[in-house]
Amino acid sequence: MLIQIPSVLDATQLQEFRQQLDSAEWVDGRISAGYLAKQVKHNRQLSDDNPLGKKLGEVILRSLQRNSLFSVAALPLRILPPLFNCHESGNTYGRHVDGAIRPIPGSMHRIRTDLSSTLFLSDPASYDGGELVIDDTLGPREVKLAAGDMVLYPGTSVHQVRPVTRGKRLASFFWIQSMVREDHKRKILFDLDTAIQRVAGTGNPNSAAGPATELSGVYHNLLRLWAEL
Ligand code: NI
Repeated sequence: MLIQIPSVLDATQLQEFRQQLDSAEWVDGRISAGYLAKQVKHNRQLSDDNPLGKKLGEVILRSLQRNSLFSVAALPLRILPPLFNCHESGNTYGRHVDGAIRPIPGSMHRIRTDLSSTLFLSDPASYDGGELVIDDTLGPREVKLAAGDMVLYPGTSVHQVRPVTRGKRLASFFWIQSMVREDHKRKILFDLDTAIQRVAGTGNPNSAAGPATELSGVYHNLLRLWAEL
């Protein structure tokens, strides 16, 4: 399931992010890649402990905490601090898979990467190429979103970032361990929640209250069966 989360950051925040990232200290993106991914990764990123990355990452996480679409789609248990990358002048990140388990920087803990996310920070008209291509069950899907929008996709997918042939593509990327490990179960819960909201939002609120409440009970009973905390 690919889900687009619109407007995670607003225009003012995006301007501040881009301004601060323009003077950031970028390092070779291969620092965080595994053995195979290293061979196809040609970009730059902020190191895990970069103070600017930490500060901007917190802004993103605070925004996501208030985002109900994100909560329903991801059912997040743990989120790794967001990282930042920069693709320009032919930079690319070829086909790869993300490691299933990642350490939480500065701790002895690890998370399982059930979901990957990319938050686009640059205006898509300001650069050519740089599409995120995700191999979905229905074939490859190309994603290039407006600045401030984010895509959430299964950590199990093979994916790539096409070469940037003009301009600069700034993005934030991070991983989420979900309370519900399997993508198809998260999709069932997401579809059910969407349908409940429709039922609850139509017609007389009193007549809709019955079925919406019962369906909501089904949702929570499924979540109780499937959630791991
Ligand atoms: Ni990746």
